[in-house]
Parts: sequence; C-alpha cells; structure tokens
Amino acid sequence: MDFRSARLAVLQLLGALAPTARPALLQWMRTTRDFDEFTQDNNDIMLKSIAEELRNYLPLETMLPSEHLALQKIKQHPEPTVHVDAFLYDEDFIDSLCEEGKMSRNYCMVCGSQQTAPLGFISHSFSLMELKFIYHHVLPDLSGKILVDVGSRLGTVLYGGYLYSSALQLYGVEMNEDFCQLQEMVIKKYQFTDRIKVLHADICTQGSLLQNADVIIMNNVFEYFLNEADQARAWEYINHNIRKQGSLLVTVPSLEESLSGLQTNIQLSTWIEEVPLNYDVYPEKDMDREALEQIHLYKIL
Ligand SMILES: C[S@@+](CC[C@H](N)C(=O)[O-])C[C@H]1O[C@@H](n2cnc3c(N)ncnc32)[C@H](O)[C@@H]1O
Repeated sequence: MDFRSARLAVLQLLGALAPTARPALLQWMRTTRDFDEFTQDNNDIMLKSIAEELRNYLPLETMLPSEHLALQKIKQHPEPTVHVDAFLYDEDFIDSLCEEGKMSRNYCMVCGSQQTAPLGFISHSFSLMELKFIYHHVLPDLSGKILVDVGSRLGTVLYGGYLYSSALQLYGVEMNEDFCQLQEMVIKKYQFTDRIKVLHADICTQGSLLQNADVIIMNNVFEYFLNEADQARAWEYINHNIRKQGSLLVTVPSLEESLSGLQTNIQLSTWIEEVPLNYDVYPEKDMDREALEQIHLYKIL
C-alpha cells in the first residue's frame, strides 16, 4: 500500500468510528509506544534482532555456570537481587514476562505472607537507550579513533559502536571464553568483522591496547567479577596504562564510586578530569534517568 492509500484508509477508519470513541483513539495514536517498532531506524532494528538471537543462547538470568564468583556475589547481596540483562530484556519485555508469571518484580519479605518488596535488578549490559546515549550524546565524532570495551560480555558496546559511530576499530576484551564465542558468532553473522575484534584475555595483559586507545568504555567491569584485592590490582593496571593525553574514559558507575572501599594509590585529580554530561536529552517518558546518571565521562590529563 502506498502513502496516499494508507492515509485514506486511516481517515476512513476514523470516519467509521463511533464519535464517542474517536477522542480515545486519537489520544492513543498521539501517545502510544505501540508504533515504536515502525519508527525505529535500521540500526535499532538490527540491535534488537541481535538481542533476540542472543536470548536463544542464554538462560533468562543471562549468567553462565562459568561465572562462579559473579553468581556467588549476587547471592550474597543484602537485598534479594535478580540479574536481568538490559540489552536482552527491555522494560516492556520484562513486563510481559511478569504477566506470564515467568518473572516477578517483587519478593516475599516474610515467607507465606502477602508482604512484598521490590526485587533489586542488576544488568551486566548496557540497554539500547544507554548505548544510543553514549554514542549520540556522550562521545564526540569517532572517525579514525580506536575504542576499547573492557569486559565486552555480549558485545553490546561493540555492535552499538559499529552501528552508531564511525570508530575505525572497536576492540572488546573479555575474560570469559563462552561470551567471547557468542560475540564471535554475532560479529560473523552480522558482518562486523572489518571493524570489530574480540580478544579473549584478562585486561591486565593488554597494556599496549589500552595505551593506544582513544576511547575506553568500562561498564561495571570488576565489581561483580573479581574479589577486592584483584579489583584494586586491575584498577592500578588501568590507571598505569590509560595515559594518552586527551583520550576519553566512559565509566559506570563513577570512578570515585568504583574505587571507594578499594585499597589503591590512584590519584584521580592528576589522572583525569570529569566532563559534565547533559542527561536531559530524551523525553521523560522514554528514559530511565537513574540509569543514564550512572554514566560518567572523563578526559585523561
Ligand atoms: C558488566 S559486564 C560489561 C558488559 C559490556 N561492556 C556492556 O556494557 O554491555 C563486565 C564484563 O567484564 C568481564 N571482566 C571482568 N573482569 C575482567 C578482566 N579483568 N578482564 C577482562 N574481562 C573482565 C566480565 O566477565 C563481564 O563479562
């Protein structure tokens, strides 16, 4: 159907509607998110299709049996917490899983009683909205630049960088081999091989990659995956190797928060300068402001 016929069909439909129902339909058309799937650009659709594909390979909690320490740490959380990957499961998807009884947003505080409290949710990946915020509003034009995602997991930062930026090369470094294989599968299938490379390695063996990078992304890399002594050592390594003047470091949460409670000799004031971000770039109804405010940008001095 071409545009003229579609427009006519919509007008005819409105004309045929009971006049009392018309305001409600028009209001729904003005405000609904049901049209989102028709208005997203191709890159969003491609990322959603990657998420759909990855959901078939991973359990609902998106944690693998090989992630011993992370599984243990989540269990020890003071409040009951579930892991839901924000790239694989957006808010609408979680709502539908809750409706089907496959997931709950609440837990029972006293076993057998009706008293419930909200469950804590942890995501180990950026959501589509966070990726778009980073590439459209946090980072400058990346033409000719090298980007490194420390702990690339499902590869979301790499695919987002391929589709939403002109970065010359996007490197992911991931210590979990199973996740590296999943990333390789996506990179081949979607033909991202010319600009994305994944290294199965501990970031603490990748000094020269970090030294040459123009942009380094660190989304909650160590907290759930290393014990405190190893976290401190890894941060010292990062601090020692990310030294290229003017290069950019994007972190979640802030460096202050990540380093608090760890024994390190890192002097933030001589290493980095924080670049303020504008978090008000999306209409309120579309955004999870709390999640965006966790994103911080630093320039290396
Ligand atoms: C929270 S996920 C980040 C996922 C991804 N960067 C994103 O934003 O969507 C952190 C990942 O870092 C990996 N990781 C933790 N310590 C690492 C290390 N020392 N070297 C390489 N990867 C590491 C973990 O296995 C985990 O998959």
